[in-house]
Amino acid sequence: MKLLFLFVALFMAHLAVFVTADLDLVLLHTNDMHSRFDETDIYCNECRKNDAVNGRCYGGFARVAQVVKDEKKKAEEKNLTSLFIVAGDTFQGTPYFTFFKWQAVVDFIKQLQPDVMNLGNHEFDDGIDSLVSYLNGIQDIPTVVSNLNMTLEPDLDKFITRSFVFEKNNTKVGIVGYLTTDTPVNNGSFTIFIKLIYLGKPPSIEKPYGTYPLYVTTVKNKTVPILQIYANTKYIGKVDIHFNSNGDLVSINGSPILLNNEIKQDPSMLTVIDKWKPSVTKITNVTVGRTTVELLNNCHLMECNIGNLIADSFVYYNVLKKKNYDEYWTDAPIGIVLSGSIRNTINENDHEGYITLGQLINVSPFANKLVKVTISGASLLEAFEHSVFDYLLHNGGINFLQVSGVLVEFDLSQKPGHRVSSLYLRCGDCSVPKFDPVILTANYTLVTSDYLANGGNNFNAFKKIVKKNEILSVVDYNATAMYMESISPITIGIENRIIIKTSN
Ligand SMILES: *[C@@H]1O[C@H](CO)[C@@H](O)[C@H](O)[C@H]1NC(C)=O
Ligand SMILES: *[C@@H]1O[C@H](CO)[C@@H](O)[C@H](O)[C@H]1NC(C)=O
Ligand SMILES: *[C@@H]1O[C@H](CO)[C@@H](O)[C@H](O)[C@H]1NC(C)=O
Ligand SMILES: *[C@@H]1O[C@H](CO)[C@@H](O)[C@H](O)[C@H]1NC(C)=O
Ligand SMILES: *[C@@H]1O[C@H](CO)[C@@H](O)[C@H](O)[C@H]1NC(C)=O
Ligand SMILES: *[C@@H]1O[C@H](CO)[C@@H](O)[C@H](O)[C@H]1NC(C)=O
Ligand SMILES: *[C@@H]1O[C@H](CO)[C@@H](O)[C@H](O)[C@H]1NC(C)=O
Ligand SMILES: *[C@@H]1O[C@H](CO)[C@@H](O)[C@H](O)[C@H]1NC(C)=O
Repeated sequence: MKLLFLFVALFMAHLAVFVTADLDLVLLHTNDMHSRFDETDIYCNECRKNDAVNGRCYGGFARVAQVVKDEKKKAEEKNLTSLFIVAGDTFQGTPYFTFFKWQAVVDFIKQLQPDVMNLGNHEFDDGIDSLVSYLNGIQDIPTVVSNLNMTLEPDLDKFITRSFVFEKNNTKVGIVGYLTTDTPVNNGSFTIFIKLIYLGKPPSIEKPYGTYPLYVTTVKNKTVPILQIYANTKYIGKVDIHFNSNGDLVSINGSPILLNNEIKQDPSMLTVIDKWKPSVTKITNVTVGRTTVELLNNCHLMECNIGNLIADSFVYYNVLKKKNYDEYWTDAPIGIVLSGSIRNTINENDHEGYITLGQLINVSPFANKLVKVTISGASLLEAFEHSVFDYLLHNGGINFLQVSGVLVEFDLSQKPGHRVSSLYLRCGDCSVPKFDPVILTANYTLVTSDYLANGGNNFNAFKKIVKKNEILSVVDYNATAMYMESISPITIGIENRIIIKTSN
């Protein structure tokens, strides 16, 4: 990949809005829709028959489209300018994307017709060619990104503008898109900018990160409102904004709208869903296991039972392929999963505990290949230090690792890089598996995703291999599906594999 970024890492999509004179603007916005084309359950996993019958489904593109239509009509009746913007990360998250990639997204975004959109980091998940094909398919929708260096990517450059400006009521409104880390980007020439980022005041189960809008002070000591909506189309954001004749923000009022069962689904969008759904459910509507416990994704914060299950399934798959039972029980007694690759919760209620492959793919949508990696104890220790390097109390971190065959203790009162206070690893060349303290000079073989094995999320430790990696011929969700089937009914819980201490 030749693409160069002005900002080293990409995590979020930001959009700035600037105006030059008096204007009332109705702004509708969403972000991180993550391929939730069809409606979902309360956790943004599959909406299944019982959820739908009981009116317990949320979101989906048809509800987003309906609210946009209704709100735009209301604005028009009041002679107000309205604008519907989609901040990035429409790619990735459900089987629609896992199996049908950008082709599916083109169809849905075309029908949704945002006035303007930008890109998120996940739009790059399948490489530049896939992104170019996608943008080629939706050329009539302006896509703004201002901080990508596309000198070496002319094909991509063709479809992206730095900013999009339109005129209403003799007033210029400009939208600028950013692909950045959370660095405040402040272009001094704007009168105001609105970054579109996550949570508001949700009437469902989500915990708001702050107020809606959230006010922050920029490096230039300017207060700017930040609007961000919870992911996965569960909400849509709506604000009425008034700018005075200097282009200063005078007022901003609104709230996120929960897209629950009371919101109608737009019939035109439903026809697009009907077009794709049969091909998806043909693959996903298969039972892969049964659970008696909730498989909860709070995996970026602490040890989670769904992470334990997935990590165990990695080790299990490798043992399953074992040919010679005269040898030790396994050559790879450790499984490691990046919490950022675990995307959903599986609810045990409503379906008598039965789990579909579709629900599981919502949990592990990336279809990462499994890889056997041999690294030293020192590298393993380095990986666990990286796991909590950026960890924040209550927020956790996207690098947090979930494990099998590992007992690790972190002391967060210590400086980043010195937080692993204890590390025990399960033996493989033993007749009875047990845990021993890490030996820095010893070799350890583990099963993880190709993403981590290639040093994804800056896990350089996994690249310090002492033996060539062996690629196992299975994707993560399939390994987990096999394991789920073999241990059902599932009862997995928290087992003190990971202990987090905040003081001595
Ligand atoms: C258009 O501009 C005029 C003059 O500044 C202002 O009074 C009016 O409210 C504006 N209309 C809208 C819809 O913003
Ligand atoms: C909207 O604008 C039209 C044309 O300028 C005008 O006739 C109408 O009265 C306006 N409606 C409202 C609600 O201000
Ligand atoms: C953009 O990338 C090109 C090619 O690598 C490089 O020559 C140029 O300096 C970069 N521009 C910026 C602003 O970083
Ligand atoms: C700020 O935005 C304006 C309008 O898009 C643009 O002309 C200018 O180059 C930007 N300045 C910086 C420092 O990015
Ligand atoms: C920032 O702005 C506030 C309010 O206008 C002012 O009280 C404060 O002194 C400013 N701080 C700096 C560092 O300029
Ligand atoms: C999935 O399969 C079940 C049982 O075969 C069936 O009742 C259900 O309607 C199917 N769901 C979908 C979305 O096709
Ligand atoms: C680790 O593995 C490498 C490559 O197979 C080998 O050369 C080295 O001796 C091993 N180290 C230990 C301590 O077994
Ligand atoms: C997952 O397993 C199913 C059933 O064995 C198989 O048809 C499918 O090809 C596998 N998917 C991948 C991506 O390997």
